[in-house]
Amino acid sequence: MTYSRREFLALTGAAAGLGFPRAGGASGTAWSLLAREANLQLLPEGYPKTRVWAYDGTIPGNEIRIPQGSRVRKQLVNELTEGTSVHWHGIRIDNTMDGVSGITQDAVPPGATFDYDFAVPDAGTYWYHAHNRSFEQVGRGLSGALIVEEPRSPDVDADHVLLLDDWLIDPETGRLAENFGQPMQMSHGGRTGNYVTTNGTYDLTLGARQNERLRLRLINASNARIFALGIQGLSGWTVALDGMPLPTPQPVEDVFFLGPAQRADLFVDVTAQPGETARILRIDRDEAIPQVSFSVTGQGAKVQRSAPAPLPSNPRMAPPDLGSATPIKLVMAGGAMGRMNSAVLNGERKTFRELAQAGYFWSLNDVANIPDTPLATFSVGEPVRMNLTNDTVFPHAMHLHGMHFRAVSDKQMGPMRDTLLIAAGETREVAFIADNPGKWLFHCHMLEHAASGMTTWINVT
Ligand code: C2O
Ligand code: CU
Ligand code: CU
Repeated sequence: MTYSRREFLALTGAAAGLGFPRAGGASGTAWSLLAREANLQLLPEGYPKTRVWAYDGTIPGNEIRIPQGSRVRKQLVNELTEGTSVHWHGIRIDNTMDGVSGITQDAVPPGATFDYDFAVPDAGTYWYHAHNRSFEQVGRGLSGALIVEEPRSPDVDADHVLLLDDWLIDPETGRLAENFGQPMQMSHGGRTGNYVTTNGTYDLTLGARQNERLRLRLINASNARIFALGIQGLSGWTVALDGMPLPTPQPVEDVFFLGPAQRADLFVDVTAQPGETARILRIDRDEAIPQVSFSVTGQGAKVQRSAPAPLPSNPRMAPPDLGSATPIKLVMAGGAMGRMNSAVLNGERKTFRELAQAGYFWSLNDVANIPDTPLATFSVGEPVRMNLTNDTVFPHAMHLHGMHFRAVSDKQMGPMRDTLLIAAGETREVAFIADNPGKWLFHCHMLEHAASGMTTWINVT
């Protein structure tokens, strides 16, 4: 069963407006990352607890925060009943540490461990999540924030990590809907929930003072939901996307979008008066819903600061040379109401009906499951331009592992990103330098789509 948020609000009634604390109770050592089942108060107080899969027993997993250039060392301890692995999303990582079950490592079996140890070259907002049967493992809660700090902290009064997630949950029982990977979710827009949390909390409320400058690190950890967001009582700039600093901070738009897996770093000044509430709003079917509240108490400064300087550049941000770039093409097809009649599965051409019976609804360049041979092989340092055609009636959030790309329009290159939203019917071009050796996945981050055909890979040798 599903509930619209409006119905849910009606059900929760008086509970709306109550904050509830983030679930705690991490066990293990500082270096361990325990994947296990946990029973947490995800719904507002007074509602039943929810059985989730979580890192260290908390939703989201504990924030990992380290200085740029240092190493993350984490031992994954698998206390789940199925294999798992951890992907460090957006990190330009050593390939062996990328955490993709079946590609860069075997899934870690129940009871076993895996030692992750890697350098983080870039400052910014990243996240970590399970990468085996992600549509279920991430959907059940296996994700957390990974923050890499700039060498000198920027001029802000507070730094808030805001990890947004949605859950398909029955408020009467507190249970997550068990229909992970159901064909309806796979073949349409993916699994979208009826309950949206920030840092595991339904109505996160933070403190702030007038004229303070806040850094907000937004992370979309949901399986498939595209968030439309706005700010109120705040005004400011987007300073980074998908971890990478923008060369020039851009004013925050009235409504901005955050696709699955995408991140945005904002610097916002509190314009609301003491006694008022500033907000991050989520726009859902023309309705603006408070998602995060900032109770403004007192004045932090008499006046606002002037516009922020850009964040310091990360290494290896030079744009690729389009003229010498190797062109490749990717056609995305399939899904409900699409035009895909057939595609190749395990080397054999199958009709759409046969594919659907095998659990596949999408194809990339006519191939419905992750192929044995890469989409393309590049030599280290090769510039690449990729033409992406979305021949489906759904948007997709295309994500490249191990490297960031830039969207190209009119020969102009956009900011470096690791995940790009491509609207239904749209054709986009991205360019990047294949400068990180290894096998790198390229897939839709609507996790149901990734599992049912929209996954391929490139090889950099
Ligand atoms: Cu965040 Cu392959 O994904
Ligand atoms: Cu990734
Ligand atoms: Cu998709």
